[in-house]
Amino acid sequence: MTIRLDYNNAFIKKSELENLSNIIKKNHNLIHEKKGAGNDYLGWLELPSKYHKEELDRIKRVAERIRNNSDVLIIIGIGGSYLGARACIDALSSQFYNILPKCKRKTPEIYYVGNNISSDYILDLFEVIEDKEISVNVISKSGTTTEPAIAFRIFKEYMEKRYGKEEAKNRIYATTDKKKGALKTLANSEGYQTFTIPDDVGGRYSIFTPVGLLPIAVAGIDIDKLMDGAKSAEIEYSNDNIVENPCYQYAAIRNILHSRNKDIEILAYYEPALYYASEWWKQLFGESEGKDGKGLFPAAVGFTTDLHSMGQLIQDGKRNIFETTINIENNQREITIKATKDNLDGLNFLEGKTLNYVNKKAFEGTLKAHVQGDVPNLVINLPKLNEFYFGKLIYFFEKSCAMSGYLLGVNPFDQPGVEKYKTNMFQLLGKPGY
Ligand code: PA5
Repeated sequence: MTIRLDYNNAFIKKSELENLSNIIKKNHNLIHEKKGAGNDYLGWLELPSKYHKEELDRIKRVAERIRNNSDVLIIIGIGGSYLGARACIDALSSQFYNILPKCKRKTPEIYYVGNNISSDYILDLFEVIEDKEISVNVISKSGTTTEPAIAFRIFKEYMEKRYGKEEAKNRIYATTDKKKGALKTLANSEGYQTFTIPDDVGGRYSIFTPVGLLPIAVAGIDIDKLMDGAKSAEIEYSNDNIVENPCYQYAAIRNILHSRNKDIEILAYYEPALYYASEWWKQLFGESEGKDGKGLFPAAVGFTTDLHSMGQLIQDGKRNIFETTINIENNQREITIKATKDNLDGLNFLEGKTLNYVNKKAFEGTLKAHVQGDVPNLVINLPKLNEFYFGKLIYFFEKSCAMSGYLLGVNPFDQPGVEKYKTNMFQLLGKPGY
């Protein structure tokens, strides 16, 4: 079993992919020989196979310590410094994780801070955590990003007030650059335990570093299995032949459809647990490709929910969309619909069918309707939603994004445009030097 890409409904012929064989090979070599644009940021490519066992063991030890002494883990980070962890934790844990009774969830509640600048958000959170034991993981590669820096200033004070400086120090973990940045300086001076984000791994490609792995391990998810999935992807997608490599097929098809005026890709999913996976995916492709006046607009829709809000537009609106569905092939839990005596709701025709079965029919019906409505459809079939296949899916997207960016002619590893709002904001706030 592996991830299967189905492009039978994407209006793309195999020969069109074959025509791209040479450029795919050329870009594959640029990626693997680290000779293309952004080549300083290709560390993610071999992270699954080269990750240090000692570092993984330290992450597991710290995760266990946090699980043992904390009711709550606060994760402070924004963009690539939190979305991967959140995507994975949400996909693989209970959807009501934080409010599960303690006897069912033996791991801390997890809250994400520093991904907005809202007073209400933090004040509401203070009310939730007031009687609970807290640990904090502050994550910032640059160590200078404003949102998490402000949030950490607030939480540092909170922790020191609650625990005293010494104990607060033992409950704060910083994940940042090995040498530079304000967070590194602060962590050194305060004596926090730190984890390093490798120089050659950018934020949105950092889930298989402590950025993702520490919070994921705290949530009780098996990070060895996650890394095994990523490792299997690293091997499987190292094939430079587009005919055999679905990861490169996905990259190529996106670009072919884009060249046919499909400017928006919607990522559809039928399991609400994938909401944050789609947020992570939006960042990965949006930030990697949207530059130099180019790039597909990545949007995400949760079905069937959004069929009742966005379905009309997708079916009938401007034909500038294509759709990529993540289909979980085997759901592990089932609810079966029973008959009722009076059949007042008229649903007895579903007697004996599971919700998963009905959900699949919704998917098949939607795909057929959208294809008839001239929306090219790609399907990424994931055998199961578990650690292994989630790790594999993440790597699948990371590598296809690198290839897709090169096909588009952009550097998929930088984000110069993100600085523009910061400059304006700092000027308005009177930051020295702006
Ligand atoms: O992908 C990226 O590089 C960005 O999304 C960053 O992760 C985000 O801006 C946060 O940056 P930092 O980790 O430096 O605080």
